[in-house]
Amino acid sequence: MLLLAIESSCDETAVAILSGEPGQPARILASEIASQIELHRVYGGVVPELASRNHSLHLRPLVEQALATAAISLKDIDCFAATSGPGLASSLLIGATAAKALAVAAGKPFIAVNHLEGHLLSPFVATGKVPPHVALIVSGGHTLLLDVAKPGHYRRLGSTRDDAAGEAFDKVGKMLGLPYPGGPEIEKTAKGGNTEAFSFPRSMLKDPSFDFSFSGLKTAVLYTLTDRNPDYGTPRTSDLPDLCASFQKAVIDVLIAKTLRAARHTGRDTIALSGGVSLNQALRHAFTAACAKEGLTLLTADSGLCTDNAAMIAFAALLQHFDGHQSPLDEDIDPNLALAT
Ligand code: KG4
Ligand code: ZN
Repeated sequence: MLLLAIESSCDETAVAILSGEPGQPARILASEIASQIELHRVYGGVVPELASRNHSLHLRPLVEQALATAAISLKDIDCFAATSGPGLASSLLIGATAAKALAVAAGKPFIAVNHLEGHLLSPFVATGKVPPHVALIVSGGHTLLLDVAKPGHYRRLGSTRDDAAGEAFDKVGKMLGLPYPGGPEIEKTAKGGNTEAFSFPRSMLKDPSFDFSFSGLKTAVLYTLTDRNPDYGTPRTSDLPDLCASFQKAVIDVLIAKTLRAARHTGRDTIALSGGVSLNQALRHAFTAACAKEGLTLLTADSGLCTDNAAMIAFAALLQHFDGHQSPLDEDIDPNLALAT
């Protein structure tokens, strides 16, 4: 079974080709990404109009590159898939329309994939098997805690009430004068910093829900900067490692506390981390230690599958295909597509 998937929900154009059989590890034959990070960096965030224009420019060469890397031709592909939401409407349209067109031209099925399901399933590409677990998706746009009975059966436990974890990293990075995206920059700068130097809030820890909130933490960093420097704008360079380490620790503490509580609540013995923020090594180390202490198994995605990519979309589509599912060609994109209620 050979499947080609396109991901274009935000600022990365990505095409992947996977081969797989039910219950077997999926083989990534190609996973190509045309990153737009440099393009958007000057604006400090993603500009939707620029993103969609660049998706249309890069998509066709990227499909050809993926086929060349996989050493196959278009007629070998058994099924086509694309992200249909959530994301930027103008960006989603490019990838979804292209995948549908390829499917029609080849007379093969099309499968629409929820971007969040792609992230959620990314830790299981290597095994092809998805055990019942608690999933934490931490990306630039989402912070979502779910109970997963099996693929396609998701129950929402909690989500962020304001900023996503990655968004908080990016906004705090911007405040600190670090380049976009702030997540990896904060992680780098935090190395050698003191996590206790600043006492930042751990919001909603006492709240019985599984929801998160990161806007108070973001404001606390801003107030700290303002207190130190009335002409806010350039914090002292020497404070940066401590500020980054203290902020990062505050995010990690809350993510771990709520996820472990969710595992206890649901009785699941496995936790799976996904999304761009799950690349953060401090987060991975802290989760590894916390899970070991509670006798829980921790699964994470390979590094190439954490930030936006098409291999995770292809894998999610592959599992849907094995389940006998295919999407109608008039299935529309949905910028606010939900994964579970
Ligand atoms: O999953 P992703 O590529 O995009 C969305 O679907 O949103 O995640 C991108 C997010 C950005 O906010 C970025 O700052 C964050 O992941 N990120 C990190 C790290 N690497 C990427 N956050 C913290 N530490 C990192 N090492
Ligand atoms: Zn994503």
